[in-house]
Amino acid sequence: MSNKIIIAIDGTSSTGKSSLAKRISKKLNYLYIDSGAMYRALTYYAIQKNFISKNHFDKTKLINDIPNIYIDFKNNPINNNFEVHLNGISYEKNIRSLDVSNLVSEIATVNELRQQMVRVQHTLGLNKGVIMDGRDIGTVVFPKAELKFFLEATMELRAKRRFDELFLNDKNITYSEVLKNIKLRDNQDANRKHSPLKKAEDALLINTDNLTLDELELKLLSYINPIITKNL
Ligand code: DC
Repeated sequence: MSNKIIIAIDGTSSTGKSSLAKRISKKLNYLYIDSGAMYRALTYYAIQKNFISKNHFDKTKLINDIPNIYIDFKNNPINNNFEVHLNGISYEKNIRSLDVSNLVSEIATVNELRQQMVRVQHTLGLNKGVIMDGRDIGTVVFPKAELKFFLEATMELRAKRRFDELFLNDKNITYSEVLKNIKLRDNQDANRKHSPLKKAEDALLINTDNLTLDELELKLLSYINPIITKNL
């Protein structure tokens, strides 16, 4: 019998979910799935097709186009990360841009798109051995996940982390626009009608403010290892 489990990590943006999930997946030899990247890829697609911009969103056109949008994950042999692909192509840099960040929460409100993404996520979790991060993983996607974490951190610290990340590729970016984006997304993610961001009742709440990634990794592993061993 396999001892593999499903680990769900939810929380607001820039709480360190993806960095941690990536590290832990490598330690455990698990698949890491960044579900936010799927919504980012959808957003990139909608921008390219002119279905969405700062001032308009043609939801119906995007929904009608769902059969033409194929989202999956493939290993990038250069960094050994499992990366999202949109119709067979990876747009890693484009999907992390502030343009996409400013529109992704709007895209993530569309239930028809969410249902399609959840289908893909379920397929990826079929054989377990998966660590998936997002907003609704412990509540909607894998409500029976063996282990769930909910990460939180103060808004200013999250904005600083995201700013440092984005500044590496874009020297024109400002801290205040990143902070504004984070506030906007927090609000939209937590208040949308379908699958809003919320802590699953059985998720472990982890505050990431004063801990390094090394410390956080150890902390999460201290919960994960006993469960994996118990499943052996
Ligand atoms: O994790 P991230 O910041 O890359 O996610 C981008 C957006 O996607 C986020 O603002 C909300 C949405 N999202 C979601 O609605 N459900 C998920 N499971 C993951 C992300």
